[in-house]
Amino acid sequence: PTTRRFKWDVEYIMWAPDCQQSVMIGINGKFPGPTIEANAGDLISVEVTNSMHTEGLVIHWHGIRQIGTPWADGTAAISQCPINGGETFTYEFVADKPGTFFYHGHYGMQRAAGLYGSLIVNGTDQQKEPYADEYDGELNMLLSDWYHENVYAQAAGLDGKGKHWEWVGEPQTLLINGRGQFDCSLAIERDRKTCDRRKTDAYCKEGDKSERCELIRRSECGPFCEGTQCAPVVFDVEPGKTYRLRIASTTSLSALNVHVEGHKLTVVEADGNSVAPFEVDDIDIYSGESYSVLLKTDQRPQAYWISVGVRGRKPKTPNALAILKYTTSKSEWPAAVPPATPAWDNVTRSKEFTYKIKAREGTPRPPTTVDRRILMLNTQNYVDEHIKWAINHVTLSLPNTPYLGAYFYGVESVAFDAATESPDTFDRGYDIKKPPEAQAPAAQAETAVSNRVYKVANGTVVDVVLQNANALEAGVSESHPWHLHGHDFWVLGYGEGMYEHDRDFKKLDVTSPPLRNTVVLFPNGWTALRFVADNPGVWAFHCHIEPHLHLGMGVIIAEGMERLHELNVPKEAVMCGQATRAAVPLAPAT
Ligand code: C2O
Ligand code: CU
Repeated sequence: PTTRRFKWDVEYIMWAPDCQQSVMIGINGKFPGPTIEANAGDLISVEVTNSMHTEGLVIHWHGIRQIGTPWADGTAAISQCPINGGETFTYEFVADKPGTFFYHGHYGMQRAAGLYGSLIVNGTDQQKEPYADEYDGELNMLLSDWYHENVYAQAAGLDGKGKHWEWVGEPQTLLINGRGQFDCSLAIERDRKTCDRRKTDAYCKEGDKSERCELIRRSECGPFCEGTQCAPVVFDVEPGKTYRLRIASTTSLSALNVHVEGHKLTVVEADGNSVAPFEVDDIDIYSGESYSVLLKTDQRPQAYWISVGVRGRKPKTPNALAILKYTTSKSEWPAAVPPATPAWDNVTRSKEFTYKIKAREGTPRPPTTVDRRILMLNTQNYVDEHIKWAINHVTLSLPNTPYLGAYFYGVESVAFDAATESPDTFDRGYDIKKPPEAQAPAAQAETAVSNRVYKVANGTVVDVVLQNANALEAGVSESHPWHLHGHDFWVLGYGEGMYEHDRDFKKLDVTSPPLRNTVVLFPNGWTALRFVADNPGVWAFHCHIEPHLHLGMGVIIAEGMERLHELNVPKEAVMCGQATRAAVPLAPAT
Protein backbone atom coordinates (compact mmCIF):
# COMPACT_ATOMS: atom_id res chain seq x y z
CA PRO A 1 0.00 0.00 0.00
CA THR A 2 0.98 3.57 -0.67
CA THR A 3 1.61 6.15 2.02
CA ARG A 4 -0.14 9.46 1.45
CA ARG A 5 1.77 12.19 3.23
CA PHE A 6 0.40 15.57 4.19
CA LYS A 7 1.95 18.44 6.07
CA TRP A 8 -0.46 20.81 7.70
CA ASP A 9 -0.05 24.05 9.48
CA VAL A 10 -3.12 24.93 11.50
CA GLU A 11 -3.54 28.60 12.24
CA TYR A 12 -6.04 31.39 12.71
CA ILE A 13 -6.93 32.99 9.42
CA MET A 14 -9.06 35.92 8.40
CA TRP A 15 -11.60 34.60 5.96
CA ALA A 16 -14.97 35.57 4.55
CA PRO A 17 -16.89 32.32 3.94
CA ASP A 18 -20.11 34.26 3.37
CA CYS A 19 -18.49 37.52 2.29
CA GLN A 20 -18.35 38.67 5.88
CA GLN A 21 -14.89 38.60 7.37
CA SER A 22 -14.28 36.45 10.46
CA VAL A 23 -11.44 34.79 12.25
CA MET A 24 -11.49 31.07 11.49
CA ILE A 25 -9.23 28.10 12.02
CA GLY A 26 -7.62 27.31 8.70
CA ILE A 27 -5.21 24.72 7.40
CA ASN A 28 -2.23 25.87 5.35
CA GLY A 29 -3.80 29.30 5.20
CA LYS A 30 -7.10 28.15 3.74
CA PHE A 31 -10.67 27.30 4.62
CA PRO A 32 -11.94 24.62 4.32
CA GLY A 33 -8.90 22.43 4.82
CA PRO A 34 -7.36 20.49 1.93
CA THR A 35 -9.19 17.45 0.61
CA ILE A 36 -7.46 14.20 1.44
CA GLU A 37 -7.79 11.59 -1.25
CA ALA A 38 -6.52 8.04 -0.90
CA ASN A 39 -7.22 4.53 -2.05
CA ALA A 40 -8.67 1.96 0.29
CA GLY A 41 -5.80 0.29 2.15
CA ASP A 42 -3.45 3.27 1.86
CA LEU A 43 -1.65 4.60 4.89
CA ILE A 44 -2.48 8.23 5.53
CA SER A 45 0.14 10.25 7.35
CA VAL A 46 -0.65 13.81 8.36
CA GLU A 47 1.99 15.88 10.11
CA VAL A 48 0.03 18.54 11.95
CA THR A 49 1.67 21.63 13.39
CA ASN A 50 -0.37 23.73 15.75
CA SER A 51 0.43 27.35 14.92
CA MET A 52 -2.33 28.70 17.11
CA HIS A 53 -0.56 29.89 20.19
CA THR A 54 -3.57 30.17 22.44
CA GLU A 55 -5.19 26.75 22.25
CA GLY A 56 -4.50 23.06 21.82
CA LEU A 57 -5.52 21.09 18.78
CA VAL A 58 -6.60 17.65 17.65
CA ILE A 59 -8.05 16.40 14.36
CA HIS A 60 -10.58 13.59 14.11
CA TRP A 61 -10.94 11.48 10.95
CA HIS A 62 -14.66 11.02 10.91
CA GLY A 63 -15.71 7.61 9.58
CA ILE A 64 -12.24 6.07 9.67
CA ARG A 65 -12.41 3.18 12.11
CA GLN A 66 -8.81 3.42 13.30
CA ILE A 67 -8.45 -0.34 13.54
CA GLY A 68 -5.43 -0.91 15.75
CA THR A 69 -4.62 2.81 15.93
CA PRO A 70 -7.01 4.21 18.57
CA TRP A 71 -4.42 6.85 19.48
CA ALA A 72 -4.87 8.41 16.00
CA ASP A 73 -8.62 9.03 16.40
CA GLY A 74 -8.03 12.68 17.24
CA THR A 75 -10.32 13.21 20.21
CA ALA A 76 -8.94 15.50 22.90
CA ALA A 77 -9.03 14.05 26.42
CA ILE A 78 -10.22 10.74 25.00
CA SER A 79 -7.68 9.32 22.56
CA GLN A 80 -4.86 11.82 22.90
CA CYS A 81 -3.44 14.93 24.51
CA PRO A 82 -4.14 18.15 22.66
CA ILE A 83 -1.25 19.23 20.43
CA ASN A 84 0.07 22.34 22.18
CA GLY A 85 0.76 25.59 20.40
CA GLY A 86 4.02 25.29 18.46
CA GLU A 87 4.04 21.48 18.63
CA THR A 88 3.81 18.97 15.81
CA PHE A 89 2.07 15.61 15.93
CA THR A 90 1.80 13.02 13.17
CA TYR A 91 -1.41 11.06 12.67
CA GLU A 92 -0.88 7.77 10.92
CA PHE A 93 -3.76 5.47 10.07
CA VAL A 94 -5.09 3.19 7.38
CA ALA A 95 -7.88 4.31 5.08
CA ASP A 96 -9.60 1.05 5.92
CA LYS A 97 -12.44 1.16 3.40
CA PRO A 98 -13.74 3.18 0.48
CA GLY A 99 -16.26 5.91 1.09
CA THR A 100 -17.08 9.56 1.62
CA PHE A 101 -15.65 10.89 4.85
CA PHE A 102 -14.38 14.11 6.36
CA TYR A 103 -12.13 15.32 9.14
CA HIS A 104 -12.62 17.96 11.76
CA GLY A 105 -11.30 19.46 14.98
CA HIS A 106 -12.44 17.61 18.10
CA TYR A 107 -11.34 19.88 20.91
CA GLY A 108 -13.73 22.39 22.41
CA MET A 109 -15.83 23.74 19.56
CA GLN A 110 -13.06 23.83 16.96
CA ARG A 111 -15.20 22.16 14.35
CA ALA A 112 -17.62 25.07 14.48
CA ALA A 113 -14.64 27.42 14.04
CA GLY A 114 -14.13 26.03 10.56
CA LEU A 115 -11.56 23.32 11.20
CA TYR A 116 -12.68 20.68 8.72
CA GLY A 117 -12.27 19.28 5.23
CA SER A 118 -13.13 16.32 3.00
CA LEU A 119 -11.60 12.87 3.17
CA ILE A 120 -12.32 10.67 0.19
CA VAL A 121 -11.28 7.05 0.00
CA ASN A 122 -11.51 5.47 -3.43
CA GLY A 123 -12.35 1.85 -4.03
CA THR A 124 -9.73 -0.57 -5.31
CA ASP A 125 -9.75 -3.98 -6.98
CA GLN A 126 -9.60 -5.58 -3.54
CA GLN A 127 -12.26 -3.31 -2.07
CA LYS A 128 -14.55 -2.46 -4.91
CA GLU A 129 -17.67 -0.40 -4.46
CA PRO A 130 -20.55 -2.28 -6.12
CA TYR A 131 -21.69 0.82 -8.05
CA ALA A 132 -18.15 1.69 -9.19
CA ASP A 133 -18.91 1.08 -12.87
CA GLU A 134 -22.14 3.04 -12.85
CA TYR A 135 -20.73 6.56 -13.04
CA ASP A 136 -18.45 8.62 -15.29
CA GLY A 137 -17.35 11.40 -12.99
CA GLU A 138 -17.39 12.63 -9.42
CA LEU A 139 -18.49 15.79 -7.67
CA ASN A 140 -17.84 16.54 -4.02
CA MET A 141 -19.93 18.63 -1.67
CA LEU A 142 -19.01 19.29 1.95
CA LEU A 143 -21.83 21.01 3.82
CA SER A 144 -21.54 23.08 6.95
CA ASP A 145 -23.18 25.96 8.76
CA TRP A 146 -21.61 29.18 9.93
CA TYR A 147 -22.11 31.59 12.82
CA HIS A 148 -20.90 35.15 12.90
CA GLU A 149 -20.37 34.91 16.63
CA ASN A 150 -17.04 33.23 17.26
CA VAL A 151 -16.84 29.86 18.99
CA TYR A 152 -15.28 31.23 22.16
CA ALA A 153 -18.31 33.42 22.69
CA GLN A 154 -20.56 30.49 21.77
CA ALA A 155 -18.86 28.22 24.29
CA ALA A 156 -18.89 30.87 27.01
CA GLY A 157 -22.62 31.35 26.49
CA LEU A 158 -23.29 27.61 26.69
CA ASP A 159 -21.18 27.34 29.83
CA GLY A 160 -22.94 30.31 31.43
CA LYS A 161 -24.80 29.97 34.69
CA GLY A 162 -28.36 31.07 35.31
CA LYS A 163 -29.19 34.18 33.34
CA HIS A 164 -25.73 34.12 31.78
CA TRP A 165 -26.58 30.97 29.91
CA GLU A 166 -26.94 31.67 26.23
CA TRP A 167 -27.97 29.37 23.41
CA VAL A 168 -26.03 29.71 20.13
CA GLY A 169 -29.19 30.24 18.10
CA GLU A 170 -29.50 29.50 14.41
CA PRO A 171 -26.48 29.86 12.11
CA GLN A 172 -26.30 32.89 9.83
CA THR A 173 -25.25 30.97 6.75
CA LEU A 174 -25.11 27.50 5.27
CA LEU A 175 -21.91 26.70 3.41
CA ILE A 176 -21.24 24.46 0.42
CA ASN A 177 -17.54 23.69 0.13
CA GLY A 178 -16.90 26.59 2.46
CA ARG A 179 -18.96 29.17 0.62
CA GLY A 180 -22.32 30.66 1.49
CA GLN A 181 -24.44 33.64 0.66
CA PHE A 182 -25.38 35.78 3.63
CA ASP A 183 -25.80 39.36 2.60
CA CYS A 184 -24.16 40.78 -0.47
CA SER A 185 -24.26 44.36 0.65
CA LEU A 186 -21.09 43.91 2.67
CA ALA A 187 -19.32 42.36 -0.26
CA ILE A 188 -20.44 45.17 -2.50
CA GLU A 189 -18.86 47.74 -0.30
CA ARG A 190 -15.58 45.99 -0.57
CA ASP A 191 -15.83 45.46 -4.29
CA ARG A 192 -18.55 47.48 -5.93
CA LYS A 193 -17.56 46.64 -9.44
CA THR A 194 -17.58 42.88 -9.33
CA CYS A 195 -20.91 42.42 -7.66
CA ASP A 196 -23.20 42.47 -10.63
CA ARG A 197 -26.56 43.47 -9.16
CA ARG A 198 -29.45 41.24 -9.95
CA LYS A 199 -32.96 42.47 -9.67
CA THR A 200 -34.62 41.15 -6.58
CA ASP A 201 -37.96 41.35 -8.34
CA ALA A 202 -36.97 38.70 -10.82
CA TYR A 203 -36.81 36.20 -7.97
CA CYS A 204 -39.48 37.44 -5.64
CA LYS A 205 -42.79 38.81 -6.76
CA GLU A 206 -43.90 42.04 -5.21
CA GLY A 207 -45.81 41.40 -2.03
CA ASP A 208 -44.17 38.01 -1.43
CA LYS A 209 -43.44 38.20 2.29
CA SER A 210 -41.88 34.76 2.62
CA GLU A 211 -38.78 34.47 4.77
CA ARG A 212 -36.67 33.75 1.74
CA CYS A 213 -37.78 36.84 -0.10
CA GLU A 214 -37.30 39.01 2.94
CA LEU A 215 -33.75 37.74 3.10
CA ILE A 216 -33.24 38.43 -0.57
CA ARG A 217 -34.55 41.97 -0.24
CA ARG A 218 -32.27 42.66 2.66
CA SER A 219 -29.31 42.19 0.41
CA GLU A 220 -28.65 44.64 -2.36
CA CYS A 221 -27.86 42.32 -5.19
CA GLY A 222 -29.91 39.22 -4.59
CA PRO A 223 -28.63 36.41 -2.45
CA PHE A 224 -26.21 35.11 -5.01
CA CYS A 225 -23.20 37.29 -4.40
CA GLU A 226 -22.31 36.96 -8.04
CA GLY A 227 -18.73 37.69 -8.85
CA THR A 228 -17.61 37.62 -5.24
CA GLN A 229 -15.56 35.21 -3.16
CA CYS A 230 -18.75 33.72 -1.79
CA ALA A 231 -20.55 33.27 -5.10
CA PRO A 232 -22.15 29.82 -5.43
CA VAL A 233 -19.79 26.97 -6.22
CA VAL A 234 -20.21 25.83 -9.83
CA PHE A 235 -20.12 22.12 -10.68
CA ASP A 236 -19.43 21.69 -14.38
CA VAL A 237 -20.97 18.56 -15.85
CA GLU A 238 -21.12 17.06 -19.31
CA PRO A 239 -24.51 16.15 -20.72
CA GLY A 240 -25.52 12.53 -21.03
CA LYS A 241 -23.35 11.23 -18.21
CA THR A 242 -23.81 9.86 -14.72
CA TYR A 243 -22.06 11.56 -11.83
CA ARG A 244 -21.39 10.37 -8.34
CA LEU A 245 -22.19 13.31 -6.10
CA ARG A 246 -20.57 12.92 -2.69
CA ILE A 247 -22.31 14.82 0.08
CA ALA A 248 -21.08 15.04 3.67
CA SER A 249 -22.34 17.25 6.47
CA THR A 250 -20.19 18.67 9.24
CA THR A 251 -22.71 21.26 10.41
CA SER A 252 -22.52 22.54 13.94
CA LEU A 253 -26.28 22.48 14.41
CA SER A 254 -28.37 22.22 11.28
CA ALA A 255 -30.01 19.19 9.77
CA LEU A 256 -30.12 19.79 6.03
CA ASN A 257 -31.94 18.88 2.86
CA VAL A 258 -30.23 18.83 -0.53
CA HIS A 259 -32.24 19.37 -3.68
CA VAL A 260 -30.86 19.45 -7.22
CA GLU A 261 -33.25 21.30 -9.49
CA GLY A 262 -34.74 19.10 -12.20
CA HIS A 263 -32.74 15.96 -11.35
CA LYS A 264 -33.47 12.75 -9.49
CA LEU A 265 -30.92 11.38 -7.05
CA THR A 266 -30.16 7.69 -6.57
CA VAL A 267 -28.70 7.03 -3.14
CA VAL A 268 -25.95 4.37 -3.22
CA GLU A 269 -23.68 5.05 -0.24
CA ALA A 270 -24.22 6.06 3.37
CA ASP A 271 -21.22 6.71 5.66
CA GLY A 272 -18.89 4.56 3.54
CA ASN A 273 -21.35 1.68 3.26
CA SER A 274 -23.23 0.57 0.18
CA VAL A 275 -26.97 0.81 0.50
CA ALA A 276 -29.69 -0.72 -1.65
CA PRO A 277 -30.12 1.97 -4.33
CA PHE A 278 -33.26 4.12 -4.16
CA GLU A 279 -34.34 7.18 -6.06
CA VAL A 280 -35.49 10.43 -4.45
CA ASP A 281 -36.07 14.08 -5.35
CA ASP A 282 -33.91 15.34 -2.51
CA ILE A 283 -32.04 13.95 0.49
CA ASP A 284 -31.98 14.75 4.18
CA ILE A 285 -28.56 14.79 5.79
CA TYR A 286 -27.73 15.18 9.48
CA SER A 287 -24.47 16.39 10.90
CA GLY A 288 -21.93 13.57 10.82
CA GLU A 289 -23.54 11.73 7.93
CA SER A 290 -22.35 11.28 4.38
CA TYR A 291 -24.00 10.00 1.22
CA SER A 292 -23.18 9.33 -2.38
CA VAL A 293 -25.94 9.82 -4.91
CA LEU A 294 -25.87 9.08 -8.61
CA LEU A 295 -27.12 11.89 -10.78
CA LYS A 296 -27.80 11.60 -14.51
CA THR A 297 -27.23 14.70 -16.62
CA ASP A 298 -30.17 13.88 -18.85
CA GLN A 299 -31.99 17.21 -18.71
CA ARG A 300 -31.94 20.25 -21.00
CA PRO A 301 -28.38 21.57 -21.22
CA GLN A 302 -28.50 24.60 -18.97
CA ALA A 303 -27.58 25.66 -15.46
CA TYR A 304 -29.51 24.32 -12.46
CA TRP A 305 -29.63 25.25 -8.81
CA ILE A 306 -28.45 23.01 -6.06
CA SER A 307 -30.34 24.21 -3.03
CA VAL A 308 -29.53 23.28 0.57
CA GLY A 309 -31.99 24.17 3.31
CA VAL A 310 -32.55 23.61 7.01
CA ARG A 311 -34.73 20.78 8.38
CA GLY A 312 -36.10 20.15 11.83
CA ARG A 313 -35.63 23.61 13.32
CA LYS A 314 -37.46 26.76 12.36
CA PRO A 315 -34.96 28.21 9.90
CA LYS A 316 -33.64 31.72 10.24
CA THR A 317 -30.95 30.78 7.78
CA PRO A 318 -31.33 31.21 4.02
CA ASN A 319 -30.64 28.26 1.75
CA ALA A 320 -27.14 27.74 0.46
CA LEU A 321 -26.82 27.59 -3.29
CA ALA A 322 -24.53 25.95 -5.79
CA ILE A 323 -24.85 25.59 -9.53
CA LEU A 324 -24.89 22.45 -11.63
CA LYS A 325 -23.83 23.70 -15.03
CA TYR A 326 -23.90 21.63 -18.20
CA THR A 327 -20.83 22.37 -20.29
CA THR A 328 -23.21 23.01 -23.19
CA SER A 329 -25.28 25.53 -21.24
CA LYS A 330 -25.64 28.93 -22.89
CA SER A 331 -26.08 30.80 -19.64
CA GLU A 332 -23.93 30.91 -16.55
CA TRP A 333 -26.88 31.24 -14.18
CA PRO A 334 -30.03 29.21 -13.76
CA ALA A 335 -33.08 30.97 -15.13
CA ALA A 336 -35.52 29.98 -12.41
CA VAL A 337 -35.93 30.84 -8.76
CA PRO A 338 -33.89 28.46 -6.59
CA PRO A 339 -36.11 25.53 -5.61
CA ALA A 340 -37.43 25.47 -2.07
CA THR A 341 -36.42 22.57 0.15
CA PRO A 342 -39.19 20.70 2.06
CA ALA A 343 -40.94 22.39 4.97
CA TRP A 344 -38.67 22.36 8.01
CA ASP A 345 -41.29 20.83 10.29
CA ASN A 346 -42.35 17.94 8.07
CA VAL A 347 -40.89 15.19 10.26
CA THR A 348 -42.92 12.49 8.53
CA ARG A 349 -41.07 13.24 5.32
CA SER A 350 -37.70 13.02 7.10
CA LYS A 351 -38.65 9.66 8.55
CA GLU A 352 -39.74 8.40 5.14
CA PHE A 353 -36.33 9.21 3.74
CA THR A 354 -34.41 7.71 6.63
CA TYR A 355 -36.44 4.49 6.66
CA LYS A 356 -35.63 3.94 2.98
CA ILE A 357 -31.99 3.30 3.79
CA LYS A 358 -31.47 -0.46 3.56
CA ALA A 359 -28.38 -2.61 3.32
CA ARG A 360 -27.15 -3.50 -0.12
CA GLU A 361 -26.75 -7.19 -0.79
CA GLY A 362 -23.37 -8.35 0.40
CA THR A 363 -23.30 -6.08 3.46
CA PRO A 364 -21.77 -7.94 6.43
CA ARG A 365 -24.46 -9.19 8.76
CA PRO A 366 -24.60 -8.69 12.50
CA PRO A 367 -23.98 -11.52 14.97
CA THR A 368 -27.24 -13.00 16.20
CA THR A 369 -26.45 -13.29 19.88
CA VAL A 370 -26.25 -10.16 21.98
CA ASP A 371 -24.06 -9.96 25.09
CA ARG A 372 -25.07 -6.61 26.44
CA ARG A 373 -27.97 -4.23 26.02
CA ILE A 374 -27.66 -0.59 26.87
CA LEU A 375 -30.61 1.77 26.96
CA MET A 376 -29.62 5.41 26.69
CA LEU A 377 -32.17 8.00 27.70
CA ASN A 378 -31.30 11.51 26.66
CA THR A 379 -32.65 14.35 28.74
CA GLN A 380 -31.99 18.02 29.10
CA ASN A 381 -31.55 19.16 32.69
CA TYR A 382 -30.51 21.95 34.96
CA VAL A 383 -27.35 21.17 36.87
CA ASP A 384 -26.39 23.84 39.37
CA GLU A 385 -28.12 26.45 37.20
CA HIS A 386 -26.31 25.25 34.09
CA ILE A 387 -28.25 23.68 31.24
CA LYS A 388 -26.87 20.27 30.30
CA TRP A 389 -27.75 17.27 28.20
CA ALA A 390 -27.49 13.95 29.97
CA ILE A 391 -27.51 10.26 29.11
CA ASN A 392 -29.19 8.15 31.80
CA HIS A 393 -28.84 11.22 34.02
CA VAL A 394 -25.10 11.52 33.51
CA THR A 395 -23.71 14.53 31.66
CA LEU A 396 -20.28 14.06 30.12
CA SER A 397 -17.38 16.17 31.30
CA LEU A 398 -13.99 15.14 29.98
CA PRO A 399 -10.95 14.54 32.22
CA ASN A 400 -7.62 16.30 31.71
CA THR A 401 -5.79 13.01 31.20
CA PRO A 402 -6.88 11.31 27.99
CA TYR A 403 -8.60 8.02 28.85
CA LEU A 404 -6.37 6.11 26.47
CA GLY A 405 -3.26 7.38 28.25
CA ALA A 406 -4.81 6.65 31.63
CA TYR A 407 -5.40 3.02 30.67
CA PHE A 408 -2.07 2.71 28.90
CA TYR A 409 -0.17 3.81 32.00
CA GLY A 410 -2.54 2.16 34.45
CA VAL A 411 -3.47 5.40 36.18
CA GLU A 412 -7.21 5.32 35.52
CA SER A 413 -8.09 5.43 39.21
CA VAL A 414 -6.48 8.86 39.58
CA ALA A 415 -7.21 10.14 36.07
CA PHE A 416 -11.02 9.87 36.11
CA ASP A 417 -13.93 8.29 37.95
CA ALA A 418 -13.00 4.73 36.97
CA ALA A 419 -14.74 3.28 40.02
CA THR A 420 -18.24 4.12 38.84
CA GLU A 421 -19.64 2.49 35.71
CA SER A 422 -21.91 4.38 33.37
CA PRO A 423 -25.48 3.12 33.81
CA ASP A 424 -26.87 0.58 31.31
CA THR A 425 -30.44 1.72 31.82
CA PHE A 426 -32.71 4.30 33.42
CA ASP A 427 -35.81 4.27 35.59
CA ARG A 428 -38.54 2.74 33.42
CA GLY A 429 -41.11 4.93 35.11
CA TYR A 430 -39.63 7.92 33.31
CA ASP A 431 -42.29 9.60 31.18
CA ILE A 432 -40.56 10.67 27.98
CA LYS A 433 -43.50 12.89 27.04
CA LYS A 434 -42.91 15.18 30.00
CA PRO A 435 -40.08 17.56 30.89
CA PRO A 436 -37.69 16.41 33.64
CA GLU A 437 -39.25 18.45 36.44
CA ALA A 438 -42.69 16.98 35.72
CA GLN A 439 -41.52 13.41 36.37
CA ALA A 440 -42.88 11.25 39.15
CA PRO A 441 -40.65 11.42 42.25
CA ALA A 442 -39.27 7.91 41.66
CA ALA A 443 -37.99 8.88 38.20
CA GLN A 444 -36.56 12.23 39.30
CA ALA A 445 -32.91 11.24 39.29
CA GLU A 446 -30.28 13.83 40.04
CA THR A 447 -28.05 14.56 37.04
CA ALA A 448 -24.40 13.71 37.67
CA VAL A 449 -21.57 15.59 35.99
CA SER A 450 -19.07 12.83 35.39
CA ASN A 451 -16.21 11.48 33.30
CA ARG A 452 -17.06 7.81 33.94
CA VAL A 453 -17.08 5.31 31.05
CA TYR A 454 -18.77 2.20 29.72
CA LYS A 455 -16.22 -0.59 30.03
CA VAL A 456 -16.81 -3.14 27.30
CA ALA A 457 -14.73 -6.32 27.07
CA ASN A 458 -13.19 -7.23 23.75
CA GLY A 459 -15.53 -9.25 21.55
CA THR A 460 -18.75 -8.18 23.27
CA VAL A 461 -21.78 -7.78 21.02
CA VAL A 462 -23.54 -4.62 22.18
CA ASP A 463 -27.07 -3.44 21.44
CA VAL A 464 -27.78 0.20 22.15
CA VAL A 465 -31.23 1.73 22.15
CA LEU A 466 -31.15 5.50 22.06
CA GLN A 467 -34.26 6.81 23.74
CA ASN A 468 -35.37 10.34 23.08
CA ALA A 469 -37.47 12.34 25.52
CA ASN A 470 -38.92 15.75 26.12
CA ALA A 471 -36.36 18.52 26.64
CA LEU A 472 -36.61 21.16 29.38
CA GLU A 473 -39.42 22.98 27.67
CA ALA A 474 -42.75 21.17 27.61
CA GLY A 475 -43.73 19.90 24.17
CA VAL A 476 -40.18 20.05 22.78
CA SER A 477 -38.17 17.04 21.65
CA GLU A 478 -35.34 17.48 19.15
CA SER A 479 -33.64 15.18 16.69
CA HIS A 480 -30.07 14.14 17.46
CA PRO A 481 -27.60 12.50 15.07
CA TRP A 482 -25.51 10.05 17.10
CA HIS A 483 -22.01 9.19 15.92
CA LEU A 484 -19.84 6.31 17.11
CA HIS A 485 -16.07 6.47 16.85
CA GLY A 486 -13.96 3.42 15.99
CA HIS A 487 -16.83 1.51 14.39
CA ASP A 488 -19.63 1.15 11.98
CA PHE A 489 -22.80 -0.14 13.60
CA TRP A 490 -25.89 -1.83 12.25
CA VAL A 491 -29.05 0.25 12.40
CA LEU A 492 -31.65 -2.24 13.61
CA GLY A 493 -34.65 0.03 13.58
CA TYR A 494 -36.56 3.06 14.77
CA GLY A 495 -39.75 3.55 16.70
CA GLU A 496 -42.05 6.06 18.32
CA GLY A 497 -42.47 6.68 22.02
CA MET A 498 -40.86 4.53 24.66
CA TYR A 499 -38.93 1.45 23.58
CA GLU A 500 -40.49 -1.68 25.09
CA HIS A 501 -38.16 -4.62 24.60
CA ASP A 502 -40.79 -7.37 24.61
CA ARG A 503 -42.89 -5.57 22.07
CA ASP A 504 -40.29 -3.81 19.92
CA PHE A 505 -37.27 -6.09 19.73
CA LYS A 506 -38.98 -8.61 17.48
CA LYS A 507 -39.76 -5.88 14.97
CA LEU A 508 -36.11 -4.97 14.50
CA ASP A 509 -34.17 -6.00 11.42
CA VAL A 510 -31.46 -8.17 12.91
CA THR A 511 -30.73 -10.19 9.77
CA SER A 512 -29.67 -7.66 7.12
CA PRO A 513 -29.66 -4.14 8.58
CA PRO A 514 -27.66 -1.30 7.03
CA LEU A 515 -24.26 -0.27 8.41
CA ARG A 516 -23.49 3.33 9.32
CA ASN A 517 -21.40 5.39 11.70
CA THR A 518 -24.02 8.07 12.38
CA VAL A 519 -27.72 7.63 12.93
CA VAL A 520 -30.54 9.98 13.71
CA LEU A 521 -32.70 9.80 16.80
CA PHE A 522 -36.06 11.34 15.96
CA PRO A 523 -38.07 13.50 18.39
CA ASN A 524 -40.01 11.45 20.96
CA GLY A 525 -38.71 8.21 19.47
CA TRP A 526 -35.99 5.62 19.74
CA THR A 527 -33.27 4.17 17.53
CA ALA A 528 -31.72 0.73 18.00
CA LEU A 529 -28.24 -0.24 16.83
CA ARG A 530 -25.70 -3.03 17.26
CA PHE A 531 -21.92 -3.14 17.19
CA VAL A 532 -19.20 -5.63 17.95
CA ALA A 533 -16.52 -4.46 20.37
CA ASP A 534 -13.64 -5.77 18.27
CA ASN A 535 -11.49 -2.65 18.11
CA PRO A 536 -9.64 -1.93 21.36
CA GLY A 537 -9.65 1.78 22.06
CA VAL A 538 -11.47 4.50 23.93
CA TRP A 539 -14.26 5.73 21.69
CA ALA A 540 -16.64 8.61 21.90
CA PHE A 541 -20.32 8.01 21.14
CA HIS A 542 -22.13 11.30 20.99
CA CYS A 543 -24.62 13.63 19.44
CA HIS A 544 -22.88 15.28 16.50
CA ILE A 545 -24.51 18.63 17.15
CA GLU A 546 -21.55 20.64 18.41
CA PRO A 547 -23.34 22.64 21.14
CA HIS A 548 -25.14 19.48 22.34
CA LEU A 549 -21.84 17.64 22.77
CA HIS A 550 -20.49 20.72 24.50
CA LEU A 551 -23.40 20.48 26.94
CA GLY A 552 -22.51 16.87 27.74
CA MET A 553 -24.50 14.84 25.22
CA GLY A 554 -22.18 11.91 24.82
CA VAL A 555 -20.71 8.84 26.43
CA ILE A 556 -17.29 7.18 26.43
CA ILE A 557 -16.75 3.54 25.59
CA ALA A 558 -13.54 2.01 26.94
CA GLU A 559 -13.35 -1.04 24.75
CA GLY A 560 -11.06 -4.03 24.99
CA MET A 561 -8.74 -2.28 27.43
CA GLU A 562 -7.43 -5.69 28.51
CA ARG A 563 -5.79 -5.86 25.08
CA LEU A 564 -4.42 -2.33 25.00
CA HIS A 565 -0.87 -3.55 25.70
CA GLU A 566 -0.88 -5.33 22.33
CA LEU A 567 -1.03 -1.98 20.58
CA ASN A 568 1.80 0.34 19.81
CA VAL A 569 0.58 3.53 21.43
CA PRO A 570 3.09 6.31 20.78
CA LYS A 571 3.99 7.99 24.04
CA GLU A 572 3.74 11.49 22.64
CA ALA A 573 0.06 10.88 21.91
CA VAL A 574 -0.93 10.26 25.51
CA MET A 575 1.79 11.75 27.68
CA CYS A 576 0.00 14.43 29.66
CA GLY A 577 -1.97 14.85 32.86
CA GLN A 578 -1.72 11.92 35.26
CA ALA A 579 0.03 9.82 32.61
CA THR A 580 3.10 11.99 33.00
CA ARG A 581 3.43 11.11 36.67
CA ALA A 582 3.17 7.44 35.94
CA ALA A 583 5.71 7.55 33.15
CA VAL A 584 8.23 9.84 34.80
CA PRO A 585 8.57 8.73 38.42
CA LEU A 586 9.42 11.72 40.53
CA ALA A 587 12.36 11.57 42.84
CA PRO A 588 11.16 10.76 46.34
CA ALA A 589 10.68 13.80 48.51
CA THR A 590 13.52 14.32 50.93
CU1 C2O B 1 -17.41 13.87 13.69
CU2 C2O B 1 -16.84 12.77 17.56
O1 C2O B 1 -17.19 13.39 15.66
CU1 CU C 1 -28.15 16.52 19.99
